[in-house]
Formats: sequence, structure tokens, C-alpha cells
Amino acid sequence: MGQVNNDHSDAPVLVGSSTTMAELSRLIQTAAESDITVLISGESGTGKTLAARRIHFLSGRCNGPFVQTNCASLTETLLDSELFGHEQGSFTGAHRQHAGRFELANTGTLFLDEIEELSRRAQAKLLNVIEERTLTRVGGEAEVRTNVRLIVAANRPLQPLVKDNKFRRDLFFRLAELAITMPPLRERREDIPELIRHFISRFNRELGKNIHRVADAAMAQLIGYNWPGNVRELRNVIKGGMATAAHDAVWIEDLPLTVEMNTQDSRAASAGLSTLEAAKGAHIEKVLLAVNWKKVDAARILGITRATLNRKIGRHKLVKPGRK
Ligand SMILES: Nc1ncnc2c1ncn2[C@@H]1O[C@H](COP(=O)(O)OP(=O)(O)OP(=O)(O)O)[C@@H](O)[C@H]1O
Ligand SMILES: [Mg+2]
Repeated sequence: MGQVNNDHSDAPVLVGSSTTMAELSRLIQTAAESDITVLISGESGTGKTLAARRIHFLSGRCNGPFVQTNCASLTETLLDSELFGHEQGSFTGAHRQHAGRFELANTGTLFLDEIEELSRRAQAKLLNVIEERTLTRVGGEAEVRTNVRLIVAANRPLQPLVKDNKFRRDLFFRLAELAITMPPLRERREDIPELIRHFISRFNRELGKNIHRVADAAMAQLIGYNWPGNVRELRNVIKGGMATAAHDAVWIEDLPLTVEMNTQDSRAASAGLSTLEAAKGAHIEKVLLAVNWKKVDAARILGITRATLNRKIGRHKLVKPGRK
């Protein structure tokens, strides 16, 4: 249900040098420098848990525990005891005193995941603990002082829930002292090659493989795919591709069909049936589209200079699509 993690041997690192990621790193640094409550929102697999661990790791509380609990996994009755603990005999089965997550996280960070799943009653209790900085265990009287930094994550935006009266406005503002939104991977495709390199070196170690690269056509598909499961899905696709890869490269054949079928632009995918020159043009266009025609990024991904890129854009008559 929850876990206590004091192991800093594998430091949490967010890979990516897009402008969005640079901005995110600054926010994470700001969050780490103070004790304010942080609300991290974003689709599944965008790195919310990783960001929470990074904030803890960079903060003055890094030598304290990082304790996490998923609110969706707590039933209403178990919630109080899980978060705030209980006294011996407070309910059937409460054989001894039990420290809740708040107490376990003492001097460290408490990370509450899927905060949107908290019931109204639990929201009221949480607000109270945050404001008073004390809690009472279930079935107890004594007030226990709390000393935790709180980080919460939401899989969907909380504002609409606040509007519909499903999430307390006062709690929302208390939690969102600093709000961080993790962008979906499809909105920062320029990070994909770097993430792939990161996962390849990690899984080379884990799988005992010696993969050096991803073939161009496979890379084009990986950049063009929509990634509904975000970085987690990319990690799994790379791991799976590496497991089946026969030699030192991951080929299109090593990618799952979902990636192939959902790739935005199928031109590069069918490039095998066109001339090499046409395939080159299609590939360049695909990379440009993936990075919103930011030529610096496209040139970096393609491994050519900007001047060469400009020449190729001219030769292949590539034009930037009209955008709002
Ligand atoms: N920027 C990144 N750099 C490196 N690895 C990343 C990055 N973002 C996410 N990951 C990895 O992707 C996987 C999913 O990330 P994480 O669990 O933090 O996502 P999440 O937003 O918390 O997902 P969920 O909503 O399902 O809880 C993890 O293995 C994580 O280490
Ligand atoms: Mg998570």
C-alpha cells in the first residue's frame, strides 16, 4: 500500500533537455528549497512520482524518510488508520498501537498519490492536520505533532473537481502552494531520443545486452507515436524492443504493433517502398514536425548542422504547416 524508502543509492533523475523540462527542473529546485506543499499533476506515466522523489532528494529533508501512499487504494475506513495511525483496541483487530504514514514520514516527506480520490470526509481531516500540524490517532486523544513536507499528485486536473464541489476549495489552495504540471510526452517529443539513450544504457546493464542504437526508421516511429502511456510506455517499449533485438540495434520489427499503427505520419513507415531520397525527406519532415519545427532541436536529433538542415529543407521542399 505504501512504502518507506531511505535508499538514495539510485538518485532520481529526470531526463530531458527540452525547454519544458528545463522549466520543470527550475520548479523542482524551487520546491526543494522550501517546505511548501507541492501539487504535481499530469497524465499517468509522465513522471509525477519521480518528480516527487527528486524534490525530496534535493531538499533539506533528504536524510529523512520518503513515505508514499496511494489514496485510491485506501477504503474510507482504512484511510484514517493508514494516514493517522490508531491506538490499541480502537477497533476490532487493532491489537496494538499503529503509527500512520504521517508519523512514519516524520522529518521527511509524505507523498500522497491520486489525491483526487480522497473522500470529502478525508479531505476535511487532511486539511485539519495540515493547518494544525498535529494529528490524533484513531481512538486516541493525545495530539501528536507532525513534521513532514507534503507532496501530492493528481492524475487529473483538480480545478474541475473543485468547481463541481467534489474537491474542497480550501484544501486545493493549501495543497497547491506550488503547482507543477508534468507535460505529456507527445508535447515534448524532442526529449524522446535522449530518453531512449537513457533507457538503453540502463537496460543494457539490467538485461546484459550490448545495444548501441535504434535504427533510423524505428527512431522515426518512436518520435512520431502519440505515447498515451507517456514515459512509462516508452520505457516498456524500449525494454521490450531490446529484449527481442538480435544484434546491436533495435529495428522496427522489435517495436510493438501499437507504436507502428499509431504513428502520426505513416510516410516514413512506408519509406522502405520509396526511393532513398524520398525516405530521407520524409524522415527529416517527421523530425521537424515532432519538434514543432524548432530547427536547432531537429538538427541535433538528425545529427547534422543547421545549415545542412536548411539546405535539405529547400531540396525536399518541406514547408512548416500553418499553426494557430
Ligand atoms: N523525465 C524522465 N526521465 C527518466 N525517467 C522517467 C522520466 N519520467 C518518467 N520516467 C520513468 O517513467 C516511469 C513512470 O514514471 P512515474 O511512475 O514517475 O510516473 P507517474 O506520473 O507517477 O505515473 P502514475 O500516474 O501511473 O503514478 C518510471 O519508471 C520513471 O522512472
Ligand atoms: Mg505515480
